[in-house]
Amino acid sequence: MRTANSMQTSSTETMTGPSVLSHDESSIREAAAALTRSGVVAFPTETVYGLGASTLDPTALDAVFRIKGRPQDNPLIAHVLDIEGAKTITTGWDDRCTLLAEAWWPGPLTLVLGRGESVPDQASGGRPTLAVRSPEHPVARALLEAFGSPISAPSANRSGGISPTCAQHIVDDFSGDPEARDLIVLDGGRCRVGIESTVLDMTMDPPRILRPGVLTPEVLEPLIGRIETTAIREQVHSPGTAERHYSPQTSCMLVEEPELIDRLASNECRCVVITSISGRRELVQPPHELILMPLDPAGYAMELYEALRRADAERADLILIETTGEDDPNWLAIRDRLMRAASERLS
Ligand code: TXA
Ligand code: MG
Repeated sequence: MRTANSMQTSSTETMTGPSVLSHDESSIREAAAALTRSGVVAFPTETVYGLGASTLDPTALDAVFRIKGRPQDNPLIAHVLDIEGAKTITTGWDDRCTLLAEAWWPGPLTLVLGRGESVPDQASGGRPTLAVRSPEHPVARALLEAFGSPISAPSANRSGGISPTCAQHIVDDFSGDPEARDLIVLDGGRCRVGIESTVLDMTMDPPRILRPGVLTPEVLEPLIGRIETTAIREQVHSPGTAERHYSPQTSCMLVEEPELIDRLASNECRCVVITSISGRRELVQPPHELILMPLDPAGYAMELYEALRRADAERADLILIETTGEDDPNWLAIRDRLMRAASERLS
């Protein structure tokens, strides 16, 4: 079922943006056929939506970089159905990879390995390594099955922006963009996890987490021993983890209670407050806005990008995010995304 998304411009000419398809069998077939014609298909995964192209098709991969506005040297994650699929495009798969994949695939865990000979440069931003993961979302799996070959997919947002967690976010981002004219979006509902996968570099010993996700060292180490983590500001091995990322257009600050109270009282600007503390309802009065978040990290992660997008849409002067879960490892990936969202704009 197709819903053409069209926007009427002032000159009566119609600018078409992405086409949203439901996730029935014929839509999946149509999307897989588009991939075989070097097309680009946005599809749901359990983490966020991806902007997919055939891993083995340089022309299609170039289109992904163009649509996203992504720097050419920022490598992509290849999505596969299973361990066998991963082995066909990587080198250096070892017993530790098998242990991790048997425990967590399909799921939000990405492994960086050697890049297989058949894989073009574009799939890994010219690097000798390749990131792979097996997504759990049934629509992603149906698309992989119908296409029959790995699909490379960065998050389906513009480079540096907020990752999409539903089909409408992609329409919002790319509507009217001529580069995205032929983009197909498979609508698979809201993403369950809500933030991107944990990226683990298996080419090092011990392996190193390049991007934190909901799968923390605490759950991975019992399987394979010590894992190194990288401080946010030192993440040079994973170029996509630039300090400022996942960012709204509106300036964004992480605050604790005293600063929150000061900022709201000063009345200098209109703020949107994102917090898990329901007691803030009394404090945040018009013209300020409140976005109340769940108290548990899984619920918070699931709603985070939707909240940042809503906050941005308010066109306020400032987004104030009240920080939570200081030392709890289950909040680490959320804090990582919040720090990037709030980090100074790079010039
Ligand atoms: O959950 C996810 O991982 C989502 C869904 C769509 O699968 N994908 C995603 O892709 O977040 P992207 O491109 O937005 O982020 C991929 C991250 C980037 O930080 C990139 O630099 C890193 O993985 N990465 C990919 N390949 C790499 C490689 N060969 N070496 C080091 N880092 C790599
Ligand atoms: Mg991304």
